[in-house]
Amino acid sequence: SGETPAQGLHIVITAGPTREPLDPVRYLSNHSSGKMGFALAGAAVALGAQVSLISGPVSLPTPEGVARIDVETAVQMHEASRRLASECDIFIGCAAVADYRAEAASEHKIKKREGEDGLILRLVKNPDIIADIANERDAAGGRPFVVGFAAETRDLEVYARDKLKRKRLDMIVANDVSTEGLGFGADDNAALLLWRDGEGEGGASLPPQPKTQLARAVIERALGCLSSPPVH
Ligand code: PMT
Repeated sequence: SGETPAQGLHIVITAGPTREPLDPVRYLSNHSSGKMGFALAGAAVALGAQVSLISGPVSLPTPEGVARIDVETAVQMHEASRRLASECDIFIGCAAVADYRAEAASEHKIKKREGEDGLILRLVKNPDIIADIANERDAAGGRPFVVGFAAETRDLEVYARDKLKRKRLDMIVANDVSTEGLGFGADDNAALLLWRDGEGEGGASLPPQPKTQLARAVIERALGCLSSPPVH
């Protein structure tokens, strides 16, 4: 359709994995391809929004009309997100952010040690990007509407409700990433949407479908919530 319900809104989306260096040639990361986040960016543009896409390392073309910011690490993604979140209407955290990084990336290539069976890596926690955005939103009072994702392999609804509450999100898109053909790397996805708006709490189950289609449903739901703002 030619409808543009997101006209005049700035939507910021994070996508893809983060890459946490161990030394000059190695890193910690995950299987996120960026497809879900890029689909969200495409859907948001199609609905008339101004879109900024903060992406970890992926091999996907930038959807037309989207302003893309490339980052590698969680710390870089955190920085770019905080900078843009303060000036947007909707912030969507779809990136698979590494929860930990090496305490100190080695300046030189880590050598294999003869006579030692193992290697101990010391990791430290990365910032929780979406929780920080939601906290800053609360401190500023109002914008943006914050949408998180939850990637779970069991007890989807229980963990998603916990993340919605604990990270002070307005909405969460919970996906079961243990189902073959859905989630990480796939073209399709299914999700349980949970949200808080002026009327209280809502939920909807989105069956398996192309990520492009699911993305549109997520953006439309967020737009619906925006017209009935939550009380924090
Ligand atoms: O990229 P694809 O291959 O298309 O796959 C899509 C996807 C499976 C990666 C996507 O649908 C998805 O579930 N993204 C979130 C992955 C994730 O890290 O989930 P989580 O449950 O660990 O994190 C919960 C929320 O907190 C997410 O919004 C995440 O972006 C955010 N987070 C997590 C850790 C952290 N340090 N900072 C964060 O902001």
